[in-house]
Amino acid sequence: DDYELGGHTDFMRKEMAEQPEAIARALRGRLDERFATAHLGGLGLDPMALRAVKRVKFLGCGSAYYAGQMGAALVEELARIPADAEPASEFRYRNPVVDPDALYVAVSQSGETIDTLAAVQELRRKGGRVIGAVNVVGSAIARECGSGVFLHAGPEVSVASTKALTNMTVSFAMLALLLGRVRDLSAAAGARIVTGLRALPGQVERVLADDAEIARIAKRYAHARHMFFLGRVSGWPVAREGAQKLKEISYIHAEAYQAAELKHGPLALVDADMPSVVIVPADDLVAKNIGTIEQVKARGGPVIVITNADLPDGLADEVIRVPRGEPELDPILLTIPLQLLAYHTASALGRDIDKPRNLAKSVTVE
Ligand code: G6P
Repeated sequence: DDYELGGHTDFMRKEMAEQPEAIARALRGRLDERFATAHLGGLGLDPMALRAVKRVKFLGCGSAYYAGQMGAALVEELARIPADAEPASEFRYRNPVVDPDALYVAVSQSGETIDTLAAVQELRRKGGRVIGAVNVVGSAIARECGSGVFLHAGPEVSVASTKALTNMTVSFAMLALLLGRVRDLSAAAGARIVTGLRALPGQVERVLADDAEIARIAKRYAHARHMFFLGRVSGWPVAREGAQKLKEISYIHAEAYQAAELKHGPLALVDADMPSVVIVPADDLVAKNIGTIEQVKARGGPVIVITNADLPDGLADEVIRVPRGEPELDPILLTIPLQLLAYHTASALGRDIDKPRNLAKSVTVE
């Protein structure tokens, strides 16, 4: 184990640190500067087949589901095709209407999650077109799908997924780029995304370098019994993933809410003992997110902001900044500090980070 840990204290830490190289591996040979698009040969879909896709649905469990939600937003933005994500477990149990014109994407690090596998089998029984977005080559879901995009994150040991989740979103950005470029996404817009993807490894490196500051913040709030994670639109799946990570490894109760829903109930819970982590991407909604932060502050709630926007001084108790890249890719970078926040909170509380209680790395039984 010592050898495999390569000097790191645990696998989660090692795998977070590996993210820049993991992203670079996912991009290798797949970005096309000349035509401002992506090549995903494993999809087995020619331009006509890609154009025939009328809808995209991502299916996965846990973090893979949240990555799917980020993927759906990327597809809608870049390709303007309706897209959504659903927990694979719900899909398999609810007798879904299978749309022959849809592209279904089964998302799984391990490729062995039983609920996701069952969703794929249900789709195939009903004639749905399903591809995999899987990390482990030769896994059950990869084999059942027969085509898709491998994540190339390398082996992931920690129960809390970090580099595999990042590579899911990176892969969905390439899928969305490809779907966009066979439609109306301009070459200039495509080139912007290609450049943005190429910049990611270096930008993630910079976020990881903020480790000591995020550790300080985590320690300060580690006593909290409950936390909110708030975000709107592109910040919303980021908030959900941040809450998931904190729950998984620190055992602090964390709930994610769409920021605007706060006033419809959960605001009643905000007080000095209920910190909120607010995701503020540099998008058209910065003013709205500032409003959310002010509402929380007005009720005495501590606020930790994760942002790449320019915000007024003194707005929040803590501000964690990430580099500004192409706006569509913001969720990828904004997720990284949340891994570190969960990690350092769990570590301040003395938790077994790689093997949290009650959880398994892959859930292969019902
Ligand atoms: C388990 C893990 C989660 C993971 C989920 C999906 O519940 O605890 O961290 O996100 O499975 O795993 P998969 O291998 O399908 O991505």
